[in-house]
Amino acid sequence: MDIVRYGIIGIQGVGETHLRLAQKHQKVELTALVDIDSDAVKYQAQELGIRSFTDYRDLLDADLVDAVSIATPHNLHGEIGLACLNAGIHIFVEKPLANTVSAADAMLSAALLSDLKICVGHQYRTYRTPQRMKEIIDSDILGPLHRILWTWLEFRPDSYYKRDPWRTNWRQAGGGVLLNQTSHDLDLICWLAGAPVEVSAQIGKQLHSYLEVEDVACATARFEGGALASFQGSVNQPGAFSLRQLAGDRAMMVIQDVKSLTGDQTDEILLGHYGDALSSLTASIEPISGQPPITWESINTEPSSTDSPTGHELLLHSFVMAILQGGEPYVTGQSARTTVEFINAIVLSALKKRTVELPLDPAEYDELFSKLVNGEMSL
Ligand SMILES: NC(=O)c1ccc[n+]([C@@H]2O[C@H](COP(=O)([O-])OP(=O)(O)OC[C@H]3O[C@@H](n4cnc5c(N)ncnc54)[C@H](O)[C@@H]3O)[C@@H](O)[C@H]2O)c1
Repeated sequence: MDIVRYGIIGIQGVGETHLRLAQKHQKVELTALVDIDSDAVKYQAQELGIRSFTDYRDLLDADLVDAVSIATPHNLHGEIGLACLNAGIHIFVEKPLANTVSAADAMLSAALLSDLKICVGHQYRTYRTPQRMKEIIDSDILGPLHRILWTWLEFRPDSYYKRDPWRTNWRQAGGGVLLNQTSHDLDLICWLAGAPVEVSAQIGKQLHSYLEVEDVACATARFEGGALASFQGSVNQPGAFSLRQLAGDRAMMVIQDVKSLTGDQTDEILLGHYGDALSSLTASIEPISGQPPITWESINTEPSSTDSPTGHELLLHSFVMAILQGGEPYVTGQSARTTVEFINAIVLSALKKRTVELPLDPAEYDELFSKLVNGEMSL
């Protein structure tokens, strides 16, 4: 194979980005579009001179694609993703990988069985600020991580939910501010700090009483390396003063007012160096209220001079090249599973009012999730 025959399932919203990028990729031949909006999909396919379908199952039978992008409401990622994998088709699935860790596991097993690729739309990992943060962590400037403080704050008016009713309920959206808006940030936290091993949380509804799902979440987590994290996400506040602080044994990294990471923009990262490891300064500082000195360095995450692609363009390219040449896409299904498990654990902890240890019991979450979907339990 030297070209990937490609389909898009869910062509409006972010599916349009997948369509545009697939169209211009030299190793991709766009062959089919699927959407339940029959007028939209027919019109778009006619414009491109390719086939259209309103039921994804008809695409699976048509032998038209080697790979697809899935950009539908969340509940369909697991269902459509698994059906594609079982039909021998590689998938680039939008975030979240699935609503539940059990659905994610079914997809991962199917991919493994047939040697198929899964790429997930966590493109924030490709942006310059998270990239710089990752470089700083990997270069061990911070030393072992002790603490993470991370907020994500933006406003979503009622019109947002009226336009896309699927975002309001457990069955389709699978969750609110966690699975929808902050799955990118929770993904970044796991990408930077490793897997969470213990979670305790509160979630709720503050401004959107008509939602089934949460519009605010606060969680604390312990990570595999020992770091303790506090996370707050809310769609009930203007988008300002989102904060990221990752504090290690030798230095801390702070981004004081994070702009939305929906684009690849510049942020100022402050690096505070202690000059020595805090773990040794505890023994050497004599005055009982003595504070280790901090030397601040400002790092501006300017665009890279190479102008290399980021975001979905980079993800799609990595996906296509993994299919053609082997290796893994930039965001693997396995790494995105960690994010789904983290989010499921936050919901489980909040609703069961207890600390949740990971690995999460998928069956326990499925039972809770089914009660939420069936209305036997609510926020
Ligand atoms: N990575 C990102 O930054 C990013 C940005 C936006 C959305 N997303 C994700 O992309 C997915 C879609 O979100 P959106 O904002 O584009 O939603 P949307 O509602 O704007 O678009 C969803 C599309 O899926 C279609 N659809 C619904 N059911 C379908 C079915 N059974 N078969 C085929 N098509 C179907 C709809 O008609 C629509 O065209 C979600 O998972 C969302 O979280 C990711």
